[in-house]
Amino acid sequence: MHYLNCNFAKKYKKKIVVKIKQAEFVISNTDIRLCPEPNMPEYAFIGRSNVGKSSLINMLTNNKSLAKISSKPGKTRLINHFLINKDWYLVDLPGYGYAKVNHNARDQFQKFISRYMTTRENLTNVFVLIDSRHKPQEIDLDFMIWLGERGIPFSMIFTKLDKLKKGERKKAIKLYEAEMLKVWEEMPPYFITSSVSGEGKEELLNYIGEINQTVDYSV
Ligand code: GTP
Ligand code: MG
Repeated sequence: MHYLNCNFAKKYKKKIVVKIKQAEFVISNTDIRLCPEPNMPEYAFIGRSNVGKSSLINMLTNNKSLAKISSKPGKTRLINHFLINKDWYLVDLPGYGYAKVNHNARDQFQKFISRYMTTRENLTNVFVLIDSRHKPQEIDLDFMIWLGERGIPFSMIFTKLDKLKKGERKKAIKLYEAEMLKVWEEMPPYFITSSVSGEGKEELLNYIGEINQTVDYSV
């Protein structure tokens, strides 16, 4: 049996408290050459359409209208850069697995997302968002393997936890963990969030703050 091992961005023990004082939209595009200069740490949010990527960015930045959200899947179509505290970037990406766009458009999406993921030199960590209400889905599991095989560090974020009862939460995570351990040596760092209740915000921001201390892209 072949187990994947990837250089996960570990959870650090030292406590760093991060507050978002400023969050500004910088640019949207499909061309990585037009992304901002790669001189600051960058954290990308990816996952199936409608999983709550844009909502989570708004929740983290205390700004309901920073990233565009919609109840219909397929809202985010571009690579969107947001500059946080003039110090690091959050990146909102289109969802994968959105059936309603035609094949051609979907291929285009996939091309620019994979180009972004494999060539963006300051991409510090990818957050893979997983809808906590559903059983492990092949498309998410495959995407994480795709990242692992390319050595792209990632962590998992379970979303929409407000939709689950307390007992269901543990079960859902356990089930996911069992599925992950079929291919991975260990469970990646993971976070439990709700953009409605704000759960998980502090933990996620502090995690980013810790990683920020370990990287330097300024030269
Ligand atoms: P695409 O841009 O289409 O890929 O979707 P997305 O992943 O950015 O999802 P988005 O943030 O637009 O949210 C999709 C829907 O889920 C919206 O109706 C949100 O209000 C809802 N939603 C997002 N996060 C949560 C959450 O934590 N709890 C609940 N109950 N609903 C959420
Ligand atoms: Mg979106």
